[in-house]
Amino acid sequence: MKKQTQGPIGIFDSGYGGLTILKEIRKTLPQYDYIYLGDNARAPYGTRSFDIVYRFTLESVKYLFSQGCRLVILACNTASAKALRTIQQHDLPEIDPTRRVLGVIRPTVERLGEYSTTGHIGIFGTPGTIQSESYDMEIAKLHPGYRTIGHACPMWVPLIENGEAESDGADFFVKQETERLMEKDPAIDTVVLACTHYPIMFKKIRQYMPSHITLLKQGEIVAESLAAYLKRHPSMEQRITRNESGGSCRFLTTENSYKFSSMASLFLGEPIHADTIEL
Ligand code: DGL
Repeated sequence: MKKQTQGPIGIFDSGYGGLTILKEIRKTLPQYDYIYLGDNARAPYGTRSFDIVYRFTLESVKYLFSQGCRLVILACNTASAKALRTIQQHDLPEIDPTRRVLGVIRPTVERLGEYSTTGHIGIFGTPGTIQSESYDMEIAKLHPGYRTIGHACPMWVPLIENGEAESDGADFFVKQETERLMEKDPAIDTVVLACTHYPIMFKKIRQYMPSHITLLKQGEIVAESLAAYLKRHPSMEQRITRNESGGSCRFLTTENSYKFSSMASLFLGEPIHADTIEL
């Protein structure tokens, strides 16, 4: 049988947020090669229309495919909410039915039963993710009887993308949104940080949330789900470049590479170098 060519796993986000997913994926699956693509020049996606998020996401996925990726993770809730299904159902069969694009919403919702006792789930997300009602629909499917309370935080991603995550302004907006969410339903016991940028402000969010609330970051959840996926799909696993002494990671951005590299090094806690690409 002809040997299939191998390639790295593609990790995509509108900007820096997907780094919180990449970090956990690399911890769990250090043997694979990765390419991270942040579309920072066009972030945030969270306030953009369905059509635009779909078009930008598809361009990024195609770019990652052109770099040899067989499997791409949309490490972005907004893209998972607005573009994933169309890409899976409409574009992949045409581009290459053997490649796969996976998102972050379903793996997160699958795990909610492990954390919530009241079944009242708060969702912090971008306006796009919340308006799409993707979490409401997925939770209704997998956990009938649960109540989903979505809350959009339009200022959180711009604060992070602009390096203001530690500022007084961030305190103001984190306090405001956490109070507003809890006013909507005091029975909430579990809150999903349903935007991959938000863990960058985790300490601040934790500080303003009541202490009995479980705050869920998606990084570990997505990493475990990817590991399980690759176990279930050995034919895909064999198509990923691996190195038992540690895989590599390339970083790509649509923004200035110096700017991306310094911010990403800060978030990942290790020096990285990114290249600028045009989509
Ligand atoms: N990190 C993306 C998400 O998970 C977000 C954001 C954006 O560009 O607004 O939704």
